[in-house]
This record gives sequence, C-alpha cells and structure tokens, in this order.
Amino acid sequence: MRPKQLPGLHPDFLYGTAWKEERTAALVELALRMGFRGIDTANQRRHYFEAGVGQGLAAAYGAGVVTRADLFLQTKFTYRPGQDQRLPYDPGAKLSVQVAQSMASSLEHLGTDHVDSYVLHGPSSGYDWTEADAEVWEAMKKERDAGRTQLLGVSNVSLRHLEQMVEVHAEAPAFVQNRCYARFGWDREVRLFCNQRNIVYQGFSLLTANAEVLRDSLVTGLAARANVTPAQVVFAFARAVGMLPLTGTSDAEHMRQDLASTGMELSNDAVRAIEELAG
Ligand SMILES: NC(=O)c1ccc[n+]([C@@H]2O[C@H](COP(=O)([O-])OP(=O)(O)OC[C@H]3O[C@@H](n4cnc5c(N)ncnc54)[C@H](OP(=O)(O)O)[C@@H]3O)[C@@H](O)[C@H]2O)c1
Repeated sequence: MRPKQLPGLHPDFLYGTAWKEERTAALVELALRMGFRGIDTANQRRHYFEAGVGQGLAAAYGAGVVTRADLFLQTKFTYRPGQDQRLPYDPGAKLSVQVAQSMASSLEHLGTDHVDSYVLHGPSSGYDWTEADAEVWEAMKKERDAGRTQLLGVSNVSLRHLEQMVEVHAEAPAFVQNRCYARFGWDREVRLFCNQRNIVYQGFSLLTANAEVLRDSLVTGLAARANVTPAQVVFAFARAVGMLPLTGTSDAEHMRQDLASTGMELSNDAVRAIEELAG
C-alpha cells in the first residue's frame, strides 16, 4: 500500500523535543542534520525546553544545514494546570491574553516571527469542550489571522471533544495530536473523524505505548522479511493509515531508521492485520 499523501504543507515526520532538557539544543541540531524538517515543541517548561529548541535551530541555521523556510515548526499553548511555576504568561490574565503572551514567548524562544502550527496542548476538561477551550481557540484563531501561525491544532482530545468543538466553532483544526494506543484500535474513532474532515492526525508514543505490538510475531515477521526493525514497521503502518508520526528518539541511528521508514511500503493485508492486532 502506498503511503497516503497527507494534505497541507508539512513534512513526513515530526521530531519531538519533550524531556530532553539540556540536551535539547544538540538533539534538535542533530535531528535537522539527519534530515528531519518538522519540529514539535511546547511552551511548557515542565516537559519541554523550548528556548533550547531555538538554540538548536540557530546552530543549524548558522552551520547552513537548513533555513527557517525549510522547516515546519509546531508549538503549543498549555493551560496553567499542565505547567510548573515556570510560566510563559501571567496566570492572572484572561485566557485570551495568556494565549497571546505564550505565543509571543514561543516566537522569542524559537527566533522566528511565526510558527507553522499552533496547538492547544489539551482541553481544560478530560470530558467536555468547555467555554475556556472556546475562548482559547478563538484567541488561537486571532494569532493565526495575525500571521503568527499558519495552522491550528488540538491535542489529547477524545471524539466527544472534537464533536463538541466543531459544533461551537465554524472551523475545525488542521491537526489533531494524540497518543496512539494499538489496544484502542490505534485511536480508531478519532482517526475516522479526522479522515472525514481532512484533519491530519499526528500520532505520538507509537512505540512507547505499544510495546506488545513491537514484540508481536506479525510485526517481527514483517520486519525480518523486509530487513527493517519492528519500530520501522510501526512507523510505516502509521503512515499507511494516514498518520503523521512523531518520534522523540535521542539516538542518531534511530533517527536515520525512523526517517527511512517513510519509504517503506506495506501490503494492504499487512496494514489491515496490524490495524486489527490489538483493538
Ligand atoms: N501532545 C502531547 O501531550 C504529547 C505528549 C507526549 C509526547 N508528545 C510529543 O511527541 C514526541 C515523541 O514522544 P513519544 O512519546 O512518541 O516518544 P518518546 O517518548 O520520545 O520515545 C520514543 C522512544 O522510542 C525509542 N525509539 C525511537 N525510534 C526508535 C527506533 N527506530 N528503534 C527503537 N527505538 C526507537 C526511543 O529510544 P531512543 O532515544 O534510544 O531512540 C524512545 O525510547 C515528544 O517529544 C513530544 O514532542 C506530545
């Protein structure tokens, strides 16, 4: 099965920058040297060092590896409960002001006047799309209309969140970014919603959430026959079903393998079998 063409102008793979702390700059530079052109971060110091991402970008620009125009940069707005004390906004300000302040801080960290995608890190409630989310989304749209981001997205959402969201707002997100568990049908319901609306589904934790899949004889057999690793089969599968995968590897050889998986084709039967593995 040929990998599906993903709508929009974004790379085949996103390099994730969470949990890298003081290694962030060096790993971002390495990822760009290895060939990644999409970078995912967040203005959430608790899990990401966004200013370190900016340092890595600056090093790569300085060394002539890439220019800003070659890159797809994605960052996120994170509500107060998802943050520690290192906040990128005034917690006493209205949410719409917090969004503007967080965006201004992200642009400074990343050394750019715009990002390519701006994502709501997670709705304010695990259950409903709330009035707070509506205020934040409208503020994010203002950032987009002012040219500070090209596209908008939401993360850590359920089908219920998405259905409520599109009822309240005229516009659906360009991206949904979710943790993708094989045992929940690889987030089947949300992916279906996305497919029907031309929303690009970004899948994370494809390896770490699915250790049982990497050990499964179907996947190890496919990998052995194609002379690739089980991780590469999982990424090739993700692409075949229309996902834009993320990887957060810190290892140069894994970076190479992860990028190489974009060229791997799986048969229709293999894709169907992997899809039905656990969910
Ligand atoms: N929106 C959200 O709430 C949210 C939440 C979590 C993550 N994210 C984003 O998603 C990114 C990725 O996170 P993740 O959870 O998918 O991954 P991750 O936590 O960065 O972990 C990837 C794991 O897979 C391993 N790996 C990668 N490629 C491999 C390969 N080819 N063979 C074997 N092992 C391989 C890595 O080990 P090595 O380092 O040894 O390669 C690492 O242990 C994050 O950095 C962040 O940007 C977003």
